[in-house]
Amino acid sequence: MLDQRRLPSEEISYTYTDYREVARAIREMVIRGAPAIGVAAAMGVALGVLKSAAISMDELGPEFAQICDTLAETRPTAVDLFWALERMKARFAELAERKTDIPEIRKAMVAEAQQIHLEKRATDEAIGRFGADFMPRDGQVMTQCNAGALATGGIGTALGVIRIAVEQGKNLHVLVPETRPYLQGARLTAWELHRGGIPLTLITDNMVGHFLKTGKVGAIVTGADRIAANGDTANKIGTYQMAVLAKENNVPFYIAAPVSTFDLSIPDGEHIPIEERSAAEVTHLHGVRIAPDVPAAHPAFDVTPARYIAAIFTERGVARDPYMHSLSALAAAAPPFSSASAR
Ligand code: MRU
Repeated sequence: MLDQRRLPSEEISYTYTDYREVARAIREMVIRGAPAIGVAAAMGVALGVLKSAAISMDELGPEFAQICDTLAETRPTAVDLFWALERMKARFAELAERKTDIPEIRKAMVAEAQQIHLEKRATDEAIGRFGADFMPRDGQVMTQCNAGALATGGIGTALGVIRIAVEQGKNLHVLVPETRPYLQGARLTAWELHRGGIPLTLITDNMVGHFLKTGKVGAIVTGADRIAANGDTANKIGTYQMAVLAKENNVPFYIAAPVSTFDLSIPDGEHIPIEERSAAEVTHLHGVRIAPDVPAAHPAFDVTPARYIAAIFTERGVARDPYMHSLSALAAAAPPFSSASAR
């Protein structure tokens, strides 16, 4: 796993051999971004089963539940994490039902996690193709946080849209807000775009309104961590104010996210759990105190009401208002690839 906390100054990767290390890496943001967290959790489950000393299903069953619970307790907002765990649980139940022997279960768990990773790559490509049509032919676009390759394991969702639009010949320049306090924009999106040869300008978060008002931004595209049945969308803190300012300034605000980000079990964004992270991430920068010893708040995500979202790009097509209908139609539609090809 590439340690995203150290980017852009150092490129350090770790090899984990214990699922508890994977859980810790997710919690401590070695890896982050909704789809990447999901893939990591699936890999963590596979690792747990692979390394288990269980010799019977009576032993493996409870251990499997413990592995899944440990990984589920890492980060609460991104639904992809729970989606990936549910998928691993469903596969495990299927194998147990068929009385599959333990060595075969180990192999099948690894194959399922690898399949999830492959599907996420294909998903990003499909999202990118749908979304690219909505990017301007020429000019500036804005994003938030990092919804690129680092966040998904593919080409990224929001950055995948931008990348495919550029590959199609669109002449885009990306405005990248630094995304305080964790600086995913400054550290990760700027790094990714720069390496990919896509022109960008880094701005601070408090410049967003100014750049939207001066009228030179053609579109905004961000990722999502959880999308409720009515289209309300949780994404990195700061996304809500960006979407409101976009509407005020007639800039279309788009979400790019896989269908696995939908949480149709909740009616609206009020029900989305918002992760509270450490205040030290606000009061300190790279371990250096930048504020006096005062209370600080760090909600890691906010919820953008659906009315500010012009469209949601997914791998199965584009959802538009009324989202209550368009999201459930996409959830019921066939995926652009088969999820059974690993079996
Ligand atoms: O706290 P993070 O860095 O995991 O938050 C990431 C985001 O908010 C992303 O925009 C979102 O997960 C989509 S990533 C394709």
